[in-house]
Amino acid sequence: MSATYELRGPVAVITLDNPPVNGLGYDTRKGITDGLDRAQADAQVRAIVITGAGKAFSGGADIREFGSPKALQEPNLLSVILAVEACSKPVVAAIHTVCMGGGLELSLGCHYRVAAPGTQVALPEVKLGLVPGAGGTQRLSRVIGVENALNMIVSGEPVKSELLAMAPGQKLFDKMIDGDLLAGACAFATEVADKRPLPLVRHLKAEHANPDAFFQFARNTVGAMSKNFPAPLQCVETVAASVYKKFDDGMKQEREAFIALMMTPESRALRHAFVAERATSKIPDVPADTPVRDVKKLAVIGAGTMGGGIAMNFLNAGIPVVILEMKQEALDKGVAIIRKNYDAQVKKGKLKQDKLDARMALLSTTLNYADLKDADMVIEAVFEDIGVKEQVFKTLDEVMKPGAILASNTSTLDVNRIAAFTKRPQDVIGTHFFSPANVMKLLEVVRGEKTAKDVLATVMALGKKIRKTCVVSGVCDGFIGNRMIEQYSRQAGFLLEEGCTPQQVDKAVEKFGFAMGPFRMGDLAGNDVGWYIRKRRYLEKPDLRYSKTADLLCEMGRFGQKTGAGWYDYLPGKRDAIPSALVDGMIEKHRAELGIVPRKIGDDEIVHRLVYALVNEGAKIVEEGIALRASDIDMVYLTGYGFPLHRGGPMCYADTVGLFNVVAAMNRFAKNPHDDAAFWQPAPLLARLAAEGRTFS
Ligand code: NAI
Repeated sequence: MSATYELRGPVAVITLDNPPVNGLGYDTRKGITDGLDRAQADAQVRAIVITGAGKAFSGGADIREFGSPKALQEPNLLSVILAVEACSKPVVAAIHTVCMGGGLELSLGCHYRVAAPGTQVALPEVKLGLVPGAGGTQRLSRVIGVENALNMIVSGEPVKSELLAMAPGQKLFDKMIDGDLLAGACAFATEVADKRPLPLVRHLKAEHANPDAFFQFARNTVGAMSKNFPAPLQCVETVAASVYKKFDDGMKQEREAFIALMMTPESRALRHAFVAERATSKIPDVPADTPVRDVKKLAVIGAGTMGGGIAMNFLNAGIPVVILEMKQEALDKGVAIIRKNYDAQVKKGKLKQDKLDARMALLSTTLNYADLKDADMVIEAVFEDIGVKEQVFKTLDEVMKPGAILASNTSTLDVNRIAAFTKRPQDVIGTHFFSPANVMKLLEVVRGEKTAKDVLATVMALGKKIRKTCVVSGVCDGFIGNRMIEQYSRQAGFLLEEGCTPQQVDKAVEKFGFAMGPFRMGDLAGNDVGWYIRKRRYLEKPDLRYSKTADLLCEMGRFGQKTGAGWYDYLPGKRDAIPSALVDGMIEKHRAELGIVPRKIGDDEIVHRLVYALVNEGAKIVEEGIALRASDIDMVYLTGYGFPLHRGGPMCYADTVGLFNVVAAMNRFAKNPHDDAAFWQPAPLLARLAAEGRTFS
């Protein structure tokens, strides 16, 4: 039972009860129509109130029903709303806390609406690449005005009920109720019980003084802002229909737009990302009720690029941080950068001065390990050198209190080895932040062989608190993200050797939707970083073929933007990438030395070689259990590597293309004498899924 029925005097109360947010799943929908039938058959009942139990009126569709036949099973939401409209007794929606999507559409079908202040009201369907599908576009513009409705529908953002209640001429809320909402709603329902005819939103008019100009303006702005997504423009068209068409014709247009958008790869990608984000926190052998350790104070070792950014995350969340360094100058420099970052936010109006002061007050510094003894967790962000890590972790083992969590931000080193430097490997874990650590959403949580379950659960919960997307990774070279990017970078190098210029590769990848191609990215991050890693790591893999062009570039001193030259030239103080004749010459010379005759390579081949390299390595990572699921890999790429959201991540993209086609392309790539045939052997998991006609999801 996902909706309850009770009588309060002459009022029947139907309470949606489907935790956590009263999603309108089949049982809840059926509960509403059953309740309406019962109330209409009962001569005692004069009016009906629909409300929600717990912390929501309703959050809309039940995401657990996404894509399943149950979502469409009658009564579907449209039928429920028709039943509400057609009810012979007045139906009052008593709205509180959260009223979104289908929940708002349901309430708009009711004859009256009363609301508690502070309710978040939204039609967020656009965020899933859809338009509202149960009358939202037709009814909302009739009660809050065309412009307000369009803003809400195109942005998907919530608006507080008290703000909506102040909109001139609004007909969304008949009454705002402070205090006991249900009692107030029942009193209101009794008051209006005998009023006839029953008011219906569909009978109102959606009007605009100058609709042609307004909607043309909206098309232009929305079109320019939502290049890769078809839904926002459809929001404009469907809201326009509420003005230009009769109600039923507008409903038909909304329905058609909804169904057509449902089939688009963009909506599929957004819905995938929505579900994938929620899946990341599910760890099969660490149940949701695993007890977590209390982290009231954090220590950070190293106030460099990463240490400062990491500290800011915790200060923002109100958790005191103490940073330890070797020298006072390093501390001063690190703290100055933190303050500069906050000052910039204040200047932009994103942060209030008193908040800045409060955050800085939570920060302390030290040169002395003894000052870490009361910290509940420490994150190490010192030089990427196993000797330095060893010395730091041995010291931490001596000074940290029992039960404290010892985390390393290492990007390439073996977390199991780091854990073994201590006598408490169960308390050691990897927290791999991405740069800039105070901005980037992704946090790879690296689970060591001996990491205790409650340590993992604690770090996942803490990651959520500092608003990161946390993805669990097992221990391997590069963890999930960097292990995959290595194959992507190798392909980018091969493409240069075979005939591409850096700008050609970047353009193709950016047209696909990445914010930046691999070479512009390299120039931004610093080409020397990869150079040092290759020098160290490729010593252990003497047989691994890779293009030496990136090494030759570094030998020319072209480390990227920071040295004013990299794959591209840069004018002083500017970030525009200007193609470099010098670099083209270096590549041509290298190509000639290898005896490769350059060929013209199309954008499709460029994109597919780069993206399928991610997919093949990703499939191995899933099969080895390094990632818990393919969708975790998509979250790593969407939140940490600028993979285009409208493609849903590499694994989702491969599913969209069809794994059979992906494997066929890999087999073609394997025949290229200048590529790495061994790498292009499809990973066993990928080969199996492709042969069985299945997908990663
Ligand atoms: P950094 O060189 O900017 O900062 C390191 C800081 O640690 C310096 O301020 C140094 O004085 C301090 N330090 C060194 N040894 C120390 C010791 N024994 N005790 C106390 N402080 C010490 O380096 P960065 O970039 O912040 O990297 C730190 C860690 O984060 C490395 O393990 C790196 O691999 C990892 N990482 C770096 C990323 C990046 O984009 N820079 C991204 C993800 C991880």
